[in-house]
Amino acid sequence: MCGIVGYIGPRQAAPILLEGLRRLEYRGYDSAGVAVQNGGGVAVRKLAGRVQGLRDALAREPLAGTSGIAHTRWATHGAPTTRNAHPHVDCRDRIAVVHNGIIENADALRAALERTGHRFRTETDTETLAHLIEEAAGTTLEERVATALGDVVGTYGLAAISAEEPGKIVVARQGSPVLLGIGENEFFVASDASAVLAHTRSVVYLDDGDIAVLTPDRYHVMDANAHVQLREVSDIAWDLEAIELGGYPHFMLKEIAEQAQTVKSTLRGRLLFDPGTARLNGLNLPPDACAGISRVVIVACGTSWHAGLVGRHIIETLARLPVVVEYASEYRYRPQLAIPGTLTIAISQSGETADTLEAMRAARAVGSRVIGIVNVVGSTIAREADGGIYLHAGPEIGVASTKAFTSQIAALALFGLYLGHQRGLPLAAGQGFACRLAQLPSLVARALALEPQVRELARVYAERRNFLYLGRGVNFPVALEGALKLKEISYIHAEGYPAAEMKHGPIALIDADMPVVFVAPQDEVYQKVLANMQEVKARGGRIIAVTTEGNGDLGALVDHRLCVPATAPLLSPVLTTLPLQLLAYHIAVLRGCDVDRPRNLAKSVTVE
Ligand code: AGP
Repeated sequence: MCGIVGYIGPRQAAPILLEGLRRLEYRGYDSAGVAVQNGGGVAVRKLAGRVQGLRDALAREPLAGTSGIAHTRWATHGAPTTRNAHPHVDCRDRIAVVHNGIIENADALRAALERTGHRFRTETDTETLAHLIEEAAGTTLEERVATALGDVVGTYGLAAISAEEPGKIVVARQGSPVLLGIGENEFFVASDASAVLAHTRSVVYLDDGDIAVLTPDRYHVMDANAHVQLREVSDIAWDLEAIELGGYPHFMLKEIAEQAQTVKSTLRGRLLFDPGTARLNGLNLPPDACAGISRVVIVACGTSWHAGLVGRHIIETLARLPVVVEYASEYRYRPQLAIPGTLTIAISQSGETADTLEAMRAARAVGSRVIGIVNVVGSTIAREADGGIYLHAGPEIGVASTKAFTSQIAALALFGLYLGHQRGLPLAAGQGFACRLAQLPSLVARALALEPQVRELARVYAERRNFLYLGRGVNFPVALEGALKLKEISYIHAEGYPAAEMKHGPIALIDADMPVVFVAPQDEVYQKVLANMQEVKARGGRIIAVTTEGNGDLGALVDHRLCVPATAPLLSPVLTTLPLQLLAYHIAVLRGCDVDRPRNLAKSVTVE
């Protein structure tokens, strides 16, 4: 995904655009650029590399002007070079465009435009938009943008400016989020609210098909039929420090450390202890709908998919319903079967992951009710679902998902409790589970106190080249998640596996150079995991065990023990994952990796 920013008002645009890009840099960070209207045309400055490099360039040669657009890129079409950085311009350098999304018919459009004499300078799909607008009929920029987009197949959140119409920004949305910030006599454009929060809390989330026109003293929004629409102005619910480092060296460490508060935020006001259920106001799943559910399909990607695997155990246990957990990217291309009573749950921190969004749409197309478990308010998945549960975990800036994972499990636990209650879960069981959920935040705080021990452990293993993570039952997903955390920020190869499956192949890898992390809380499969540890030990493997406080069983069997508090077995992943988040973080830091912006990654993959 990329980040787009725009500003129009009485102030100089460039500093505001740069600050907005800094806030959005977690969305993509391989190149950046700005275009400013300076009265005599459109001035563009762009380069490969981080936003700071652009800031330095503009400090050397400032750009004057009170309206402009900017972009930070995660390359899809074309290498991350200065030439391919946004903004992109037309043949005469009179129109500039920044874009987040994919123009699927870009090649055909480019060929047609080149046949009419247009000269392309980049390998990107976005440049096609600039030439289409240049070619389009229309007396205003918004008319020309609307005409141009009529030829486009794909997704976009875009902003455009033209030298012919100084003091105007045109914005369009189709499949990629973009919002307007409504300030005091000034207006902003952004891919997400973090880029405007320093200036305003009032935002307008555009809908697909919308085109917005911003001038220094007003804005208006037109829908796909060019009818002016009054879009709701929403208030951003969180504060600036939610997107500041707050003294931490990295957002990832801050977000790991705040999980006692964020799990608490997810649970806040939603536990009903006496009836032993949950209050989920936005779920839009009334009792009669609950009774009609025959199966649950969870669609997600990455860490969210791992949370879905935990959710399967929770929902099958509490609601006695069959659950399948699908990689969204795989599910969406399979023949969709219209099975009555199917409830589809899309889990997504960003609410913008293209595969998850399309999987949800595919499920709905065959009649399934869909709900979203999402963190970002107003995101596409949240807006398109029939109902859902917001995590309320605050913005997650670190590319490696941490607090979202534990809040997703908490939200799935609330959902399982609610659905179970509707489907006959015994009162005492519901009440007991609600109480265990309420205890989680304090147990999370206690587990996070392991950090000094984990930091020392990271020193022992930071130079290893491979890791194996093993777990069973509800903690098998934690093994997968621990491996993903390590590989995506430290670039060490790590693999998660069901512990019992190790003897069907991976055991061949075991030797003194392959650390094996066992996720082994004392639950109903603990003794089986113990046997797997023996198998590893017998082959000279080094064992790191995440287990329950007070567990004296392991003796000399393991080389390192990380003990987390006891809790309900279904909730143990919220705790067992914490030392693994910290282990990945500290190993990555020791290896000098860019923890918050790992190579090749972006915070949300809004492309397929
Ligand atoms: C997790 O650390 C990764 N950043 C990635 O796997 C992520 O979980 C995945 O892209 C899904 O993102 P979403 O939750 O925003 O849909």
